[in-house]
Amino acid sequence: MEQAEIGLIGLGVMGANLALNIAEKGNRIAVFNRTPEVTRAFYEAAGALQDRIIPCETLEEFVAAIRPPRPIIIMIKAGDPVDQQMALLRPILSDNDIIIDAGNANFRDTMRRFDGLKDSGLTFIGMGVSGGEEGARNGPSIMVGGTPESYARVEKVLTSIAAVYDGAPCCAWLGTDGAGHFVKTIHNGIEYADMQMIAEIYGILRDGLNMSASEIANVFGEWNRGRLNSYLIEITEIVLNAADPITGKPIVDMILDQAGQKGTGKWSVIESQQMGVPATAIEAAVAARSISSMKAEREAAEGILGLPKVPEFVVEDRAAFIKDLENALLAAKVGAYAQGFAVMAQASREFNWSLPMPVIAKIWRAGCIIRSQFLDEITTAFTEAPEAANLIVTPAFADIVKDTDAALRRVVSAAVLHGLPVPALASALGYFDSYRRARGTANVIQGQRDFFGAHGFDRVDGADAHHGPWGSGLGHKS
Ligand code: 6PG
Repeated sequence: MEQAEIGLIGLGVMGANLALNIAEKGNRIAVFNRTPEVTRAFYEAAGALQDRIIPCETLEEFVAAIRPPRPIIIMIKAGDPVDQQMALLRPILSDNDIIIDAGNANFRDTMRRFDGLKDSGLTFIGMGVSGGEEGARNGPSIMVGGTPESYARVEKVLTSIAAVYDGAPCCAWLGTDGAGHFVKTIHNGIEYADMQMIAEIYGILRDGLNMSASEIANVFGEWNRGRLNSYLIEITEIVLNAADPITGKPIVDMILDQAGQKGTGKWSVIESQQMGVPATAIEAAVAARSISSMKAEREAAEGILGLPKVPEFVVEDRAAFIKDLENALLAAKVGAYAQGFAVMAQASREFNWSLPMPVIAKIWRAGCIIRSQFLDEITTAFTEAPEAANLIVTPAFADIVKDTDAALRRVVSAAVLHGLPVPALASALGYFDSYRRARGTANVIQGQRDFFGAHGFDRVDGADAHHGPWGSGLGHKS
């Protein structure tokens, strides 16, 4: 029998969809699931694609069914299961075979796994896949980290299954070891910020302007035809318009306000803090999810504190305010993306990856959850100004910030005045206000640090005197 071009382990929804996508694009694929019934059911449901699928019930049979050097995609729960699966595979693989982890792995695990295979003859690829179930089936965005040689072996298959934007596949090799999973992690961090900002704007429309779910849906629908055009805005309109089959009410009003999280948002924040790169909008979004999950505590707190006593939310020109919300969302979004790209730029230096910023923006234009027209603008901005210190100082994005930051300021002010929580929007605004101000206030902090700890400071006149006139007894003033 003709051998398969590639193998895939793990026929959960994501794995099954990816396998069908691979087969549909003309590639022969061997599949394996640790529960043989799952493999059988998958094969039976594959219909016309069965011709290109080799279902295997043992790992040995699976490995023998793939053309060496064998690329094997593992699409299982991130963490220990991946190590366990690798341990089972290692003894039955041959030199140059490639283990590809396509789950949402922590890039530090990916680096460890990559290093762990170094002298084994095998290689490792950490592959970020975005687009959810639908993307896996019809075209995800694929972020690859590994050796260029191992990528060359799988490039044809991966580019055949990826989403396409303007004729270009949304798949690229981004660097060695953990590069692909790092970029996927930051993608998810940005996704958290994007989603939280949309939710905050929804909150202003719902609790400030007292609009119904379907009225708010119309606003998002309108915005999706403008500069905010994106998958997340599009699905927000759909979510807000959907009716609950049980009560007939808008489903969004029946969904509990407690959001889950699996870890990638948190990892983005940990890594950005680790590197000293501010990602405040992403941090705010992750924290907001955590607060959302504290439902019982929030209910108790509202019982004790009540909602803030605020003036009535009066808007004189509703249309103008809604326009402000649109521009505020755009401005804040720029802040979140600028932060995510700044984190990747620093990681690229720290881990010697040479992450190609325009390429990352390019492969996020379609297939992934944050896909949007906006990413095309980021692609152009980074292509024209590859050395820019930050997205917001590239000419095109500096213009967007200058055009929209006043709206963001008005919206954040109105929300704060009326007690509506907008932590991510406010963080983006604080980021702009701090980043664009040449003279900040850390001189006071340096004075304090020198006072209590003799930490020293630099002077504005460059003079060679690095301590203040605090007298003797530094650190002991009372
Ligand atoms: C994607 C998604 C995907 C998944 C995340 C969501 O890019 O396709 O980000 O990776 O939906 O696991 O993570 P949370 O459960 O943490 O929201």
